[in-house]
Amino acid sequence: MPDTAMLQVRDLNVLYGDYQVLWDVSMEVGQGEVVAVLGPNGSGKSTVLKAIMGLAPVKSGAVMFEGKDLTKVPTHEMVGLGISMVLERRRLFSQMTVRENVLLGAYHRSVNKETKSRLEWVENMFPILAERRDQVAGRMSGGEQQMVAIARSLMSKPRLLLMDEPYLGLAPRIVKQIADMIKRVNQEGITVIFNEQNVQLSFGLSDRGYLLEGGRVVLSGTGDEMIHSDVIRRVYLGA
Ligand SMILES: Nc1ncnc2c1ncn2[C@@H]1O[C@H](COP(=O)(O)OP(=O)(O)O)[C@@H](O)[C@H]1O
Ligand SMILES: [Mg+2]
Repeated sequence: MPDTAMLQVRDLNVLYGDYQVLWDVSMEVGQGEVVAVLGPNGSGKSTVLKAIMGLAPVKSGAVMFEGKDLTKVPTHEMVGLGISMVLERRRLFSQMTVRENVLLGAYHRSVNKETKSRLEWVENMFPILAERRDQVAGRMSGGEQQMVAIARSLMSKPRLLLMDEPYLGLAPRIVKQIADMIKRVNQEGITVIFNEQNVQLSFGLSDRGYLLEGGRVVLSGTGDEMIHSDVIRRVYLGA
């Protein structure tokens, strides 16, 4: 557990109508960490990220970010606080070029005066973006599109980056590239929370993880702690 949490999710309950999706979910994320939210399809991973971003109906509980309760902050103000999210399945504008897509990440007033320097920073970090800047996003591979989506989210100068299943649909070789990219982002001091179904895949990237089942946290710990737990060995590693 981190000494001082950047983000604290406390006893979060989320209901869609009468249907409860998250049950007393609590998580802590320390400054500079990479934390994985794990669990099978439908376990509530995306809902956790959406709840942090104010995009899910929170019934009770709190999401504290640097001392501020995000459940009381409108979603459009989160970018200004230093929070950015990469949506599941990338959601690029497929008719637009790589650079046009990346530039869209700098729309917010808190950064739009710095667009040029942000673009330089992002293209410097990931030179392929500059090489491919005029390519139409829709014609790129899944992995390349994921890179563009990550780059776009970095344009808003986040200190906390949320990623919903960044590996989804990618071949193992590409997963490695995306993992390296996320590590690189983390080395720049950006805290990362990502969702992943495949527990094993997540371990190479995350410092710690939380395992969800049926909307409840059933296990948490470092990759090492989790890989040796009975639940993980039985359910996910087929031991
Ligand atoms: N907008 C919604 N309305 C009703 N139910 C939803 C909605 N979004 C998600 N759910 C339900 O909440 C549960 C958790 O979904 P989700 O957070 O997307 O899981 P995961 O990301 O782990 O696959 C699922 O049973 C899903 O059907
Ligand atoms: Mg999901």
